[in-house]
Amino acid sequence: HDKHVLHISWFTESMSAGRPVPVEIRHYIQVSDALEVLAENLELSGNQGPSLAFRKAASVLKSLPAALRRQEETQHLPCLGEHSRAIIEEISECGSSSRVEEILNDERYRTMKLFSSVFGVGPKTAENWFCRGLRTFEQVLSEPSVRLNRMQTAGFLFYEDISKPVSRTEASALKIIVEEAVICVNPSATVSITGGFRRGKEFGHDVDFIIKTPEAGQEDVILPAVIKRFKSQNILLYSDLQESTFDLRKLPTHCFDAMDHFGKCFLIMKLKHEQEMDARAGKDWKAVRVDLVAPPLERFTYALLGWTGSTLFLRDLRRFARLERGKLLDNHALYDKATNTFLPANTEEDIFAHLGLEYIEPWQRNA
Ligand code: TTP
Ligand code: MN
Ligand code: MN
Ligand code: MN
Repeated sequence: HDKHVLHISWFTESMSAGRPVPVEIRHYIQVSDALEVLAENLELSGNQGPSLAFRKAASVLKSLPAALRRQEETQHLPCLGEHSRAIIEEISECGSSSRVEEILNDERYRTMKLFSSVFGVGPKTAENWFCRGLRTFEQVLSEPSVRLNRMQTAGFLFYEDISKPVSRTEASALKIIVEEAVICVNPSATVSITGGFRRGKEFGHDVDFIIKTPEAGQEDVILPAVIKRFKSQNILLYSDLQESTFDLRKLPTHCFDAMDHFGKCFLIMKLKHEQEMDARAGKDWKAVRVDLVAPPLERFTYALLGWTGSTLFLRDLRRFARLERGKLLDNHALYDKATNTFLPANTEEDIFAHLGLEYIEPWQRNA
């Protein structure tokens, strides 16, 4: 039921030489892919705002049944701006869009996309490397003036593994490992899968877990303890623990990006293969990106909703809450501006009810 086609990766990596090489760019097979190229090109140049229109348009197209998608019947669809409609028209008439072709062949776009595919490399670093004339990983890694931070070092070290999609089977295997560690540290804590896998996706770029602790304060000690346990099991390849900066008095925040103040960690974990060995590398494990978040119990429901995503769905939900209902929603709370009160929620159903919406299942949140 995941209507989202896995994002096409425009670069195929030839790892035989030990480094990824951008080879021929595949032609986009869907109009939504073309719109996503336009969005991505803007994002890579730091134009997050303008890229949203293309992201939304792509999302709308992807949610259509295949038959409708083929007709490109866009008159009655929401969220399609003038620009998106023009691109759609061009593609249905000519089979491609000149602007999209131009971007796909653009050296800057290709290089920025390649560089920012590395864990820890954002648009700024990618641009910096591009401006210095660097075009390949090999050039970056052999450039003496480039200083990689710990995250980027891990990003290059485990590039091959972590740029592969994570399967649902792998996510389930990781859940068992994470759950075992969490329960060992705190037998009354529970672990739930969140992010894309909770929305029913078959593949993800990482696996997201949210930890629920039944007593106040436990959320602050559980992540360091779980990390310590993973280390002792020799299954931790990288960890970045971000301690909680959550302060109830500062609620609600007015920012609408996905940031929150809970304790969390961004990990790269070793996942043992079920059967076959990776003969080439002689290793029997795959490096997988894992995110853990541990909110205080009374914030759990809002955190669960936020971390289930999708990012685009949450952005729309927050916007709807604010503009249509006069309520501020973020990962920490739901706040009613009319009565200046926080609205309690024990379940996600409560949050949707406060917003006057029918419950939206996680698998319906794949915008
Ligand atoms: P992601 O793991 O980035 O995305 P995803 O699981 O939807 O897709 P993928 O398969 O590519 O992994 O983020 C999951 C959700 O978590 C997303 O809605 C944003 C949210 N999030 C926060 O709310 N706060 C944070 O600090 C982070 C890192 C993510
Ligand atoms: Mn995820
Ligand atoms: Mn993603
Ligand atoms: Mn994640």
